Amino acid sequence: MRIRQHVNPNQAHFARFRGDRPPLDHRLVEVEIGCAEAQFLFERAAADPTRLYVGLEIREDLTRIVNRRARALAAPVHAVFCQAQLHISEIFPAGSIERVYLNFPDPWFKRRHHERRMIDDALASGIAHAVRAGGDVFVQTDVWEIALDAMATFDPDERFENVAGEWTFWKHGNPYGVRSWREQNAEETGLTVWRIMYRRR
Ligand SMILES: C[S@@+](CC[C@H](N)C(=O)[O-])C[C@H]1O[C@@H](n2cnc3c(N)ncnc32)[C@H](O)[C@@H]1O
Repeated sequence: MRIRQHVNPNQAHFARFRGDRPPLDHRLVEVEIGCAEAQFLFERAAADPTRLYVGLEIREDLTRIVNRRARALAAPVHAVFCQAQLHISEIFPAGSIERVYLNFPDPWFKRRHHERRMIDDALASGIAHAVRAGGDVFVQTDVWEIALDAMATFDPDERFENVAGEWTFWKHGNPYGVRSWREQNAEETGLTVWRIMYRRR
């Protein structure tokens, strides 16, 4: 199946939520925003199958592939087709998420595509709504401008604390024991990965 590389998140087509809601229940929930093929979530699920792992993804074909694989493996992974900035608050009740991962949230890093970037005030508000007090928000990227954008969004926001200190990168690597596909690629090709750890106040 041919999958589009990029979609413009500002198209009217994405305005209304049309995805399938995740099966929220008593389990702790981890969410990757922009999960693509969800390598990170499948590996998290293999390491700790007691939790529910939800991927938000704007490319609908990818959510079908992820959900088919989750069924085949009986893995507690569920991908939701959505435009994350617009729909995260609709998908999750207040304080229902344990942890959010923003793994390599590009591809729109060129200046002329600034308005297509994923990390903005709307996304921060959706995350602030959905993550429980004390929950983690972990950002990683190999694009310097995206790392700065993430800091410019979350550091001045009273609802989040930068765990490493204000305007400071997280220097202890990825503490979650698994890697996203982009993370693995970046590390194997020797690219610098910028990481920032926030805690929901
Ligand atoms: C560069 S990929 C990274 C995939 C994966 N997180 C990784 O690290 O390998 C970014 C993903 O975010 C998705 N995405 C971009 N904007 C989005 C949005 N507004 N809502 C949901 N997904 C989005 C893209 O379709 C793409 O699959």
